[in-house]
Amino acid sequence: MKNISRKFELEVYGKFEGANPTGSFKDRGMSVAVSVAKYLGVKVVVCASTGNTAASMAAYASRAGIKPVVILPKNSVAKGKLAQTIMHGAVLVSLNGLFDDALKVVLELAHRNIAYPLNSINPWRIEGQKTIAYEIIDELGKVDWIIVPVGNAGNITSIWKGLKELKNLGLVENLPRLVGVQASRASPLVKAFQEKSLIFEPVEEPKTIASAIRIGNPVHGLRALKVVYESNGVLIDVSDEEILWAQKVLARLEGLGVEPASATTIAGLRKLVEEGVITHGEKVVVVLTGHGLKDPEIALKHGIESYEASSVSEAVNIVSKITR
Ligand code: F0G
Repeated sequence: MKNISRKFELEVYGKFEGANPTGSFKDRGMSVAVSVAKYLGVKVVVCASTGNTAASMAAYASRAGIKPVVILPKNSVAKGKLAQTIMHGAVLVSLNGLFDDALKVVLELAHRNIAYPLNSINPWRIEGQKTIAYEIIDELGKVDWIIVPVGNAGNITSIWKGLKELKNLGLVENLPRLVGVQASRASPLVKAFQEKSLIFEPVEEPKTIASAIRIGNPVHGLRALKVVYESNGVLIDVSDEEILWAQKVLARLEGLGVEPASATTIAGLRKLVEEGVITHGEKVVVVLTGHGLKDPEIALKHGIESYEASSVSEAVNIVSKITR
């Protein structure tokens, strides 16, 4: 990303996952896990989701002839993701609760053998998602930092798994340090990291405009903390204002539309550069996990310059005035 690299005096690359079939990184793990489900003869799959997992599971499961059932936290899923989930034919259960509650439903259904779970507690999801690491190292070789948004913490642990496999195979010598970014009011892991602990307190009422990572009790939380310590990395949090700023920077400096959760990476990068943790000239990859069209309402609500015109001449007048 030329312009962002220049802005931060770094070598910054964006791993744009919005170009996957359903517009997020979830397709990597879902493709593998649904293939396994089909091989096992599964009839019904289920997931809890803040939206992207649901959209991806619906698409891959329907294609495989398996019935997708999604448990979504009520009024908490971005419109684009909801539309995809419906379009791909999922049965939708809207739960009056948080993502963390929806995950409890999935665990219970799996426990009772009612449906096959496709959240990242399913190890095949992790196997697919680790390919992000393969592709980064394949294309760039040595990288100093990889920055990832953290919600349920499946992705950061998958990426580390992929990196360690490459190292064990002798395909890379020095592994990048991992940065996990959470939203300020949904950041149980950041607090634990600041205390150098492996024990984290769940956040009871997580809040952020980045609905994808509005998660208070990450299922892979412990693993994520271990991964960050092992990679000599960092966990940080960013505010909603910083996320919106970063979303605009990506959209306007690089022409990359990403959803708020993905923009946390650039907000986190700015913070770490300011704090002197990431230093000039280093090679940094930000994982841009989901497409901007996933959450059109955020874009429409924030930072538009728009005018109403009731006639052709009025529209011409407005434009000539503002471009003067
Ligand atoms: N970015 C996006 C766009 C996401 O949708 C998610 C998670 C994350 C980052 C965080 O990844 O959970 O592996 O740490 N979305 C899940 C979902 C929770 O249901 O779609 P994570």
